[in-house]
Amino acid sequence: MLGMADRAGIRPEQAVTAGLLHDLCKAMKPEEVAAAALEYGITEDLDSPNLLHGPVAAEECRRSLGIEDGDVLDAIRRHTTGRAGWSRVGQAIYVADFSEPLRAHAGADEARAILERDGFEAALLYVIDRKLKHVKKRHRLHPNSEEFARWAEGEFAS
Ligand SMILES: [Fe+2]
Repeated sequence: MLGMADRAGIRPEQAVTAGLLHDLCKAMKPEEVAAAALEYGITEDLDSPNLLHGPVAAEECRRSLGIEDGDVLDAIRRHTTGRAGWSRVGQAIYVADFSEPLRAHAGADEARAILERDGFEAALLYVIDRKLKHVKKRHRLHPNSEEFARWAEGEFAS
């Protein structure tokens, strides 16, 4: 995240905060994350603990850690699906989560190469395409992911 902050046009502290904290609640048990979601008034995706760890982490960051940056909180909140009109911090976490240097899959290398060669928006479009194709093999796409892909294509494809 920090390595791409400049290219993505976000502040280093936004990159570090979102990067370190987006998976704050990933290790929670499914029933714990569902209970926390109910406590925080989160009503969507209650049947998908895997998706809920983002919204619950954002609330934890706001309530317990005093994080107030709305773009950072929304990046954490939506990092499993993306959303139409997402902030640049969110877009950056989406790219970094897929392509950070410890990711071993071939797509990660390619995403980093595109980032270097063609810039952040080209890398984002590549990562969205790869992630959606991967998810579609096993699950139905989340509506937020479909809307994110359509929106990004309209905004950034040349
Ligand atoms: Fe996550």
